[in-house]
Amino acid sequence: MQALLARSPVIPVVAIEDAAAAPALARALLAGGLSVIEVTLRTDDALAAVAAIARDVPDITVGAGTLTTAGQVDAARDAGARFLVSPGYSDAIVEAAEHAGLSLLPGVSTATELMRAQADGFDHVKFFPAVPSGGIGALNAFSGPFPAMRFCPTGGVHSGNYLDFLQLPNVPCVGGSWLTPADAVAAGDWSHIETLAASAAEGRR
Ligand code: 3PG
Repeated sequence: MQALLARSPVIPVVAIEDAAAAPALARALLAGGLSVIEVTLRTDDALAAVAAIARDVPDITVGAGTLTTAGQVDAARDAGARFLVSPGYSDAIVEAAEHAGLSLLPGVSTATELMRAQADGFDHVKFFPAVPSGGIGALNAFSGPFPAMRFCPTGGVHSGNYLDFLQLPNVPCVGGSWLTPADAVAAGDWSHIETLAASAAEGRR
């Protein structure tokens, strides 16, 4: 997971309604300089979108997000997902991901969940929902008792605050949906998405 997160300081979190559009969307992100995409399993077409990206845009690393049940793990792997993200911490998902041989970025928002993640051997977690859960203040506070833990804050992160998160020593990357606005995705406005991706890849607001 460390190598994956180091590849991209910003992970676009995307809900895709139409799998046919997924490769074009992934190519726009890649053209902008982002080489990792998290497709959330929140739409009917999500697994088909993962499969289409894995097949047609091999240069982007596609993962599946919003895993809330262990049963989704094998489905995501079979679709071609190369990593998994869950919004919370689930022993069943941790076990299923290990069994499937896929890296998991589990979600945490409390010290108790961090202790569980640490005990299970995780050194990278998603901090979700980042802004409502205390944002930068919470991440600074976590750095005391959990000095080795690295966080990918997601949830309320956007173009106006992502650089503040990335300045924290315990934050190698952030995630968010601001790079793929629903209206631009629906309209197939790939040049707009490429522009947003390029801003993020270059560390501009
Ligand atoms: C996620 O699933 O990671 C979040 O819903 C993304 O949060 P955002 O829409 O606030 O970026």
